[in-house]
Formats: sequence, C-alpha cells, structure tokens
Amino acid sequence: MTDIHAHILPGLDDGPETVEESIDMIGMAWENGTDRIFAASHGNCYPYTPQDYWEALEYLQMRLKSYQIPVALYPGMELYYDEHLCEKLERREAVTMNHGSYILLEFDFWERPQQVHQAVCRVQEKGYRVILAHPERYYFMQDNPELIYDFIQQDCAMQINKGSIFGEFGASAASLAYGMLRSNLVQVIASDAHGYAGRTISMERISRFLRTEFSQEYADLLLKVNPDRIIHNEEILTLQPHHLTLV
Ligand SMILES: [Fe+2]
Repeated sequence: MTDIHAHILPGLDDGPETVEESIDMIGMAWENGTDRIFAASHGNCYPYTPQDYWEALEYLQMRLKSYQIPVALYPGMELYYDEHLCEKLERREAVTMNHGSYILLEFDFWERPQQVHQAVCRVQEKGYRVILAHPERYYFMQDNPELIYDFIQQDCAMQINKGSIFGEFGASAASLAYGMLRSNLVQVIASDAHGYAGRTISMERISRFLRTEFSQEYADLLLKVNPDRIIHNEEILTLQPHHLTLV
C-alpha cells in the first residue's frame, strides 16, 4: 500500500519527536503492508525552513537503509492554505507531492465554503492539482455534505483519514466518511499518522474493512492505485459519484 499522508519526519511539526520514533512508525507501516509513504509534514504553518525539511527527509532515508526497512519515502507536505501559499509554491518553499503538480491541501476547520472554492481556483489557475486533506473532518463539510460533490466537480481529489471511519474524529466525521465511501466520493485513504501510538500508521484495519464492506478492487483503488498515480503525477481515477446519503 501507499500512504500519501503521514507525519513521519521528526522534530518539524506535531509528528514524531525523534528519529527513533520515525523508524518505529515506518517499521509498523511495513509490518502492516505499507511500502511507500509520503513524508507529509504540515507545511506553511510551522516555523521550519525548506532546508530543514529536505535534510530531515534525507537523514531518515539514510537511517532506513541502515535498518534495512524496504519502505520508500516520498516528499510532500500537508499545506495549510493562506494568501501566501501560491508564492511559496512558486519559490519551491512549499513542497508538492513527489515534485509533481499535486498538492495536499488543508484548510481551517471552520473555514467558509466560498473561501475554500476561491482558494482551490487560485491554486488550480497556477497549474496545481488539489488533493483535499480529510474533508470529512471539516465542520463546514459536516454541516453541508453536498459540498463534497461540488468540490469533486471542481476537480478536487478527496483524501479521507482511515481513523475517521472508525470514529477517531467523532460521529459526524465517521458518518460523513462512510457516506462518502458508499457514494464513490473518495479517491484516496491515508493514515494521517502523527506518532507510533494513538493515530497510528497501520493501514491493516482499513484495508480489511474495505475488502469486507466493499471489494478488493475498491480497497486497491483507494490504498494503492490512486496513491501510486500521485507518485507518478498521473490522473487520479474517480468512480461515477452518487449523491451523498448519510446513515
Ligand atoms: Fe495531517
């Protein structure tokens, strides 16, 4: 499997604090079937420099080799949107997904939908393709789930968190995430892991859930095929969406 959203670089954001914890996380990922991970640290909202990011990624890759853990790491950031983001992308201070045109975009949980639409237009005009990080967690989406459909029409890919399905972020996020899955409104599922314990990096349970509740093909699409298409900067596949019904 390929995990496009994991906070695995130590000391940069609210992810692991030490490189040892990073290595433990990656070991857990490997044991549970993940062999490719985007090092998606929070970007545009923490005080580290681009150089800090690249050095941390290079150092972790080097340490992984010495432990002989066969997991590949890819660059990317979970980019917080503000009016300076486009400039930072142009200056390469904000990192796209594996140097391609996809960006993993995050908004304030209380943001207004109109602002999000405008922000998406702004980055798309610059040539970037938007993957929206955990839409099921935003209050403005929970209040108005039909917006999910609108954002997909606007060519946003939807990345939900595996933990949302299992209630880690509350009943509203769980209900929205499950409804999105049933309505073909999800393109990618990721761990959004922040440490070895708590919000973990293991994708084993969500993989089993998707195979049992839906199908092997659906699990593969969300956990392997589309994430790998992001690595190669290829078009993300979207199934024919249905209108959302929440249960
Ligand atoms: Fe995240």
